[in-house]
Amino acid sequence: MRKKIVAGNWKMNKTLQEGLALSKELKELLENKTINCEVVVGTPYIHLSEVAKVVEGSKIHVAAQNCANKESGAYTGEISASMVASTGADHVILGHSERRAYYNETAELLKEKVELALSNKLIPIFCVGEVLEERESEKHFDVVAKQLKDSLFELSKEDFAKIVVAYEPVWAIGTGKTASADQAQEMHAFIRKTLADKFGEEIADNTSILYGGSCNAGNAKELFSNPDVDGGLIGGASLEADKFLPIIEAFN
Ligand code: 13P
Repeated sequence: MRKKIVAGNWKMNKTLQEGLALSKELKELLENKTINCEVVVGTPYIHLSEVAKVVEGSKIHVAAQNCANKESGAYTGEISASMVASTGADHVILGHSERRAYYNETAELLKEKVELALSNKLIPIFCVGEVLEERESEKHFDVVAKQLKDSLFELSKEDFAKIVVAYEPVWAIGTGKTASADQAQEMHAFIRKTLADKFGEEIADNTSILYGGSCNAGNAKELFSNPDVDGGLIGGASLEADKFLPIIEAFN
């Protein structure tokens, strides 16, 4: 059975103190609740180890938002997958459209990052998604299939089985414009079929596919009720505990 996951992506928000306060609040809010999904918080690098200490023993997992495509060495300013893993984080968001668009991350580079994440026992949350123009010209399925193929299809079945996929239509990120439940389901089913054709039905069935893009307390339940939507990757609404909690509880 694939996992249901609600993951927050804080992006470049929160000082260390603010991030710790948010993690503590979330941990306390979740303490006495029954929740039916895994919870992940994707923090800036410098927060990782402190946040990991705060949430230790709780239901919350910690993710980095990126990692380097090199193992170690003279790469000033970079953070390796092994460094991320050494903080207590156990996930890493890779291929986010903001990294692809603003930092020129290519499919080839992402392939290297995914491999290093896996070899350091981090679970990659691998993001795919089309821009508006691609959807309007009906290229969205081809675009997403290519993103999956170019960065993930050389993985062994065993390695691919560790990946979480996040479908984040770029036009829905931070815009308040969500994909409709039907649009999300249609793309998630397509992704699962693409994965089944490559890695087999069993692995595709067990892959968690998250939706991201203006997901919030008001629309999470409807989005997550689709058979192929296994949770969400949440930006803005993950920055406050009282906005994030109802998204987690959408699975109750
Ligand atoms: P928003 O939820 O702010 O639209 O961001 C989604 C996202 O990019 C998560 O990675």
